[in-house]
Amino acid sequence: MDFSLPSPDCNTISKTYNGQINSDLIQKTNERYREILPNLPRGKGWMTEHLVQYQGVWLTPNAALKGLMWVQDHFKPRSTDIFLATFPKTGTTWLKALTFATFNRTRYGFADHPLLTTVPHRCLPFLDACPNDLDGFPSPRLLSTHIPYTLLPNSMTVNRSCRFVYICRDPKDVLVSKWLFMNKLRPKELAPLSLEEAFELFCQGISHYGPYWDHVLGYWKASLETPEKVLFLKYEELKEEPSVVVKRLGEFLGHPFSLQEESEGVVEEIVKLCSFENLSNLEVNKSSVLKLSTQIIIDNRHFFRKGKVGDGKSYLTDEMIKRINEITS
Ligand code: A3P
Repeated sequence: MDFSLPSPDCNTISKTYNGQINSDLIQKTNERYREILPNLPRGKGWMTEHLVQYQGVWLTPNAALKGLMWVQDHFKPRSTDIFLATFPKTGTTWLKALTFATFNRTRYGFADHPLLTTVPHRCLPFLDACPNDLDGFPSPRLLSTHIPYTLLPNSMTVNRSCRFVYICRDPKDVLVSKWLFMNKLRPKELAPLSLEEAFELFCQGISHYGPYWDHVLGYWKASLETPEKVLFLKYEELKEEPSVVVKRLGEFLGHPFSLQEESEGVVEEIVKLCSFENLSNLEVNKSSVLKLSTQIIIDNRHFFRKGKVGDGKSYLTDEMIKRINEITS
């Protein structure tokens, strides 16, 4: 089992990380994993040969399934934990930057901000991609996850201990963004996935952490039941009125913007720092890589493509658009 941590650079988390993992616990999860894997339903993979279906959700058979099992078996949440929860390609990178910048705004100046030299993914490590001993991280921990709300352990949800920021996006844009992204990561020995294939898989729910619609609905329902615990955001609203959403984010995180901060333009500074134009042009995001595990190493530049609303439509046929809209409505 690969438990390498993506060595977070950000001061808030890296200094106290001790990286100690209980090998008995790893062993137990490994045994359970080996037992269940052969019996799981299989579907065609996007960047691996197959995806497997576990508890209703489609996952890569190695990293994501093991990560989920680790979280369900051993993760110890704290009442102060804040998670950014997303379906892949819905704006994770952007919202990580905004959350980190908003939460730590009194700690860092904008001229030498960590986000100028650190890919946002290192600021909020993935709980499920790096199921490490996170006990060494100081509270409050800012973490991220792709795990659907309904599959999270009760200790994180039913007891209502943790807070979640969720972002959803038009599924047409998610599909196209994901298809282009995954084909870049797809090993050379596998033929590229055609858009038609990707579309069919996506509509059937066979995509990482899919079905997409179930993912969104899980967090949507939770946000209606406990709005103080789950903040539900939309990519399109964030594009339209970033300052408004950032202020909501500040309130939800327990750090509302003061009138003085507002008059000094702090909200706009955060929006500018985290904008697509700024982040995508930083050296770290143009030339460095993110190592999620020994097998998964991603060029940071792949996290930034166009950052537009509605781009998916220019790739899809009218029929595809109609079908996706029908599923959504
Ligand atoms: P596109 O492929 O449509 O351009 P994720 O971070 O969940 O992997 O999502 C990636 C998508 O978010 C990509 O969409 C990417 O371009 C877009 N994105 C990344 N950073 C952004 C930012 N600062 N502002 C807006 N969109 C951003």
